[in-house]
Amino acid sequence: MTISTFMKRLGAAVVVGHAALITGLHFYKKRRRTDSQSMFQKRTEEDKLLSWLSQRKGVYLVKDIAANVDKLDKHIVRDDDVYVVSYPKSGTTWLSEIVYNIVHGLNFTEAQSLPLDERVPYLEWVHTDSSTLAAMSPSYPRVIKSHLPLSLIPPKIRNRKCKIIYIMRNPRDVCVSYYYFTKMIQLVGYKGHFADFFQLFLQGQVSYGSWCSHVKEFWEARSEANVLFLTYEQLSKNPQKMIEIIGEFLEKSLSPEQVNALMKYCSFDQMQSNPASNYSWLRESGFTQGGPFLRKGVVGDWREHFNSEMIASLDTQVNIHLSDSSLRSIIEYI
Ligand code: A3P
Repeated sequence: MTISTFMKRLGAAVVVGHAALITGLHFYKKRRRTDSQSMFQKRTEEDKLLSWLSQRKGVYLVKDIAANVDKLDKHIVRDDDVYVVSYPKSGTTWLSEIVYNIVHGLNFTEAQSLPLDERVPYLEWVHTDSSTLAAMSPSYPRVIKSHLPLSLIPPKIRNRKCKIIYIMRNPRDVCVSYYYFTKMIQLVGYKGHFADFFQLFLQGQVSYGSWCSHVKEFWEARSEANVLFLTYEQLSKNPQKMIEIIGEFLEKSLSPEQVNALMKYCSFDQMQSNPASNYSWLRESGFTQGGPFLRKGVVGDWREHFNSEMIASLDTQVNIHLSDSSLRSIIEYI
């Protein structure tokens, strides 16, 4: 089996795992309020799906990911590694493509020769020893993606000189994006309503847990010299300026022409139609159905999904958990 096939199979397995986790919790919640006639069937389904679940330090994770987290002490960190970190559905793919190209000298021909998931490996999926990571990410410096909360990121990553770029997206759009992503997973066949998924998201009962805790941990680390904290909304409003900021952080000087070229290369339309960026293998391999992985790429899609009660519930939670008002003030709903 080629490395590419190996990774795609593992990748697909974990994607299914994510959705299974979410769907499992959905059934769990529903079981408590459904009538006895449908309860047995839902419990059976729930038991099947909950078998994917595990927690680490109180954070829900797909079981395989949790097991990999336990093995991350084997991960060999290099000083020149760059980590792209986020809560799921926050623009990780977009940022990964930008960072990869900056780190690798804007060689778009090379970038198009391999799918993004092979150029930017996913730390907690399979990369738990140096040989695997070396085999899967042959070009240095490595750009590595992770959705782990800071509390689960191996301390040696922070203790070395490697850089961490964290991207936050407003939680309303994250929740909507996460919902549609979950529904795309063919094997799971999740058909829940957005309102049900919202409740799970609110309780942190989705893979990678509470959005508030995730962003708060990285916000508190933002003043560390090797940490850059940015937002999806900033990138969306002013990609040129944000690419410059990312380039500066990575200590790569970019000419205005290069910034412009990268901005175009990583625009939503370009990435959506680029097989090396758009995760089309998920659909081609039959693991997802329906819409593309790069779905809408806009700020404010929450307006089509959130009612006033949902807005109030999430706002209350954000206000309680994010005590630092400077963090609250950069969350843009637009
Ligand atoms: P939507 O579902 O709202 O469209 P992640 O990569 O962390 O899984 O995040 C996926 C979200 O980022 C999706 O949001 C996707 O469309 C959006 N995205 C990916 N590439 C993008 C780009 N180049 N520009 C804007 N949004 C992008």
